[in-house]
Amino acid sequence: MEKSNVRRVILFPLPLQGCINPMIQLAKILHSRGFSITVIHTRFNAPKASSHPLFTFLQIPDGLSEAETRTHDVTLLLTLLNRSCESPFRDCLTKLLQIADSETEEKKQRISCLIDDSGWIFTQPFAQSLNLPRLVLSTYKVSFFRDHFVLPQIRREMNLPLQEQDDPVEEFLPLRKKDLIRILDAETEVLDSYSDMILETTKASSGIIFVSSCEELDQESLNQARQDFKVPIFAIGPSHSYFPGSSSSLFTPDETCIPWLDTQEDKSVIYVSFGSVATISKQEFLEIAWGIRNSDQPFLWVVRVGSVHGTKWLEAIPEETIDRLNKKGKIVKWAAQQDVLKHRAIGGFLTHNGWNSTVESVCEGVPMICSPFVWDQLLNARFVSDVWMVGLHLEGRIERNEIERAIKRLLLETEGEAIRKRMELLKEKVGRSVKQNGSAYRSLGHLVDHISSF
Ligand code: UDX
Repeated sequence: MEKSNVRRVILFPLPLQGCINPMIQLAKILHSRGFSITVIHTRFNAPKASSHPLFTFLQIPDGLSEAETRTHDVTLLLTLLNRSCESPFRDCLTKLLQIADSETEEKKQRISCLIDDSGWIFTQPFAQSLNLPRLVLSTYKVSFFRDHFVLPQIRREMNLPLQEQDDPVEEFLPLRKKDLIRILDAETEVLDSYSDMILETTKASSGIIFVSSCEELDQESLNQARQDFKVPIFAIGPSHSYFPGSSSSLFTPDETCIPWLDTQEDKSVIYVSFGSVATISKQEFLEIAWGIRNSDQPFLWVVRVGSVHGTKWLEAIPEETIDRLNKKGKIVKWAAQQDVLKHRAIGGFLTHNGWNSTVESVCEGVPMICSPFVWDQLLNARFVSDVWMVGLHLEGRIERNEIERAIKRLLLETEGEAIRKRMELLKEKVGRSVKQNGSAYRSLGHLVDHISSF
């Protein structure tokens, strides 16, 4: 009787939009290369199984209370999840391996490995005890993933407050001291020990996959990371380029965005979105509203329900201002972002610089206005504005005049044209990396070989 050659890979994403998207994209890529896919996921922010009928989805309890699922404190959320998911995850994986072992020869599918997010810190020792190779998936830019482990030390040794705020942070380039202050604001001892665990479990893993990075965006850091971690490292490039579309969206995208964009002039619209986690104050919300209105440019603005402190959706804006806004643009609760960025009418992206959003913008050649809030976003924004020079930086000033000015500079002035030209070049470089023989495409081939060798 013939033995089945199909290998199964187990994936375990962190339940955040910015982590689910790249993991599901990786699942699609591996499936297209002949692997069967099982996704273990929490009840909280469960991916939509019906959108991916070719994968097996297994839900585990996460122990989060209703109130805990609404927290905006990501560190707290990750700590709770790591605590309460360990035991259900162990049970689920053990059962899967037992079932795989007990199958008849012709149905037998070997489980090749576990691929899970670097933020799960209990999976490495457990996988090791089962002799199951574990690959770590990082949704961060390589340079942030590599350098952020130095933050606890910087925090201990630095004499705050930092002077000369525009100076670079030598241990964490191209970050500036003023960015570091904002990152250190969120840095606590809890986060320090969490980072230490991530470092330890990553070094013990069978490899690291960077889903939205490639040699073209991160060459130096990739070389350094290979020396630091001493495990195989794969930078497979903007993973959504292999299978475009936001099918792993946790929210329902507003379907009127694209028909509305169809009515707009080429490169005239400013797209505004701060991802799936960031929240803003009422004051900041109003400044953004006035900034985009006063720029007099058409806009598409994603305001997530609950993303403005103390309000449900748009109530903080007076009705007559909403009427004035609606004359020039469109406000929605969620958009199919990748499709929006692809649209010919989009001329710029006012973004929080989450890594997914940043790379999606680069892939579509859309220049950015950077308004990072926390953590890796501050570093991503520096790359956009200071290194690649494909965007403007608000430097933390969420003020109507600054926003109006930045939109006009980007969409209407010669400075914007120069930025757009540089962005076109970057887009082409990154686009080539995922084409046959490109650096990311080759790295993906190596990843497939690596998984097949287990
Ligand atoms: C989080 C962190 O905030 C970020 O710093 C880190 O780099 C990744 O994890 P998030 O804030 O959600 O991510 O931002 P981002 O990384 O940009 O991911 C958001 C995803 O949601 C993107 O893939 C984007 O296309 C999608 N999105 C966002 C939509 O599909 N529609 C929207 O309206 C907004």
